[in-house]
Amino acid sequence: MIGKRLSAAKSSKAEAPVATTTGPKHVAIIMDGNGRWAQKKGKIRTFGHKAGVESVRAVVRFARQNGIESLTLFAFSSENWKRPEEEVSVLMDLFNLVLNSEAKRLHKNGVRLQVIGDVEAFDAKLVEKIRKAEDMTKDNKDLVLNIAANYGGRWDIVNAAKQLASQVKSGELDVQDITEDALNAHISTANLPELDLLIRTGGEHRISNFLLWQCAYAELYFTDVLWPDFNEDVFQLAVNDYNVRQRRFGLTGEQVVTADG
Ligand code: IPE
Ligand code: IPE
Ligand code: MG
Repeated sequence: MIGKRLSAAKSSKAEAPVATTTGPKHVAIIMDGNGRWAQKKGKIRTFGHKAGVESVRAVVRFARQNGIESLTLFAFSSENWKRPEEEVSVLMDLFNLVLNSEAKRLHKNGVRLQVIGDVEAFDAKLVEKIRKAEDMTKDNKDLVLNIAANYGGRWDIVNAAKQLASQVKSGELDVQDITEDALNAHISTANLPELDLLIRTGGEHRISNFLLWQCAYAELYFTDVLWPDFNEDVFQLAVNDYNVRQRRFGLTGEQVVTADG
């Protein structure tokens, strides 16, 4: 088995890093291609957003059944506000509807729902609904479903930097103590495992301002499958691909000791 996660990457030179053989713990998905999927069928773009909800259900199911601890889904970027008003409005309505219909079911299934991003920009009622669902599910342990809404990777880093700056200003923190760990503690995914695998559907090979900080050593997987066509089988292909990669974290292949040597 080829090693995936180095649990002792910082060990001394004499001590070889130990690779564990678990699959990805934290998977993120850029759910792209809804508009094109609908247009290919001669429908309006928003038809694709509605159809994409079924793929969300499928990936949550897959994650629960395959030992994934955290699933982060890019639902709405900080740049998506620039889309036609009608499309933005349908997306907001859909977010509301899905929260209404799914929150209890997620709770029953042991899923903790968390929303990252600048959500205060949303309608007050939607924000209240988000906070309520987060609160209801906060003790669930089977899976963290982390929805990125009005999220931007640069916003996330700026937000963390602001918090460190205010700690410096108040005298709580020395400038010398601004380390990667210190900044990481204020990044929106701080309570989740390191990002292992980032999947993007829809054929584009870019990050589109998603988890910039978290992507430092994530494995990237791109598929042409459009989001409404994404299902457990395609998810499994991505995980299989991840499972045969060698994650080196800057080391040489020889340094990466694998479980079966
Ligand atoms: C992703 O699908 C969903 C959101 C960005 C909200 P798109 O709407 O970007 O679909 P394409 O990329 O235009 O096909
Ligand atoms: C990224 O998709 C955002 C989400 C999937 C929510 P976009 O469709 O907005 O990305 P670009 O514009 O093609 O880079
Ligand atoms: Mg797109």
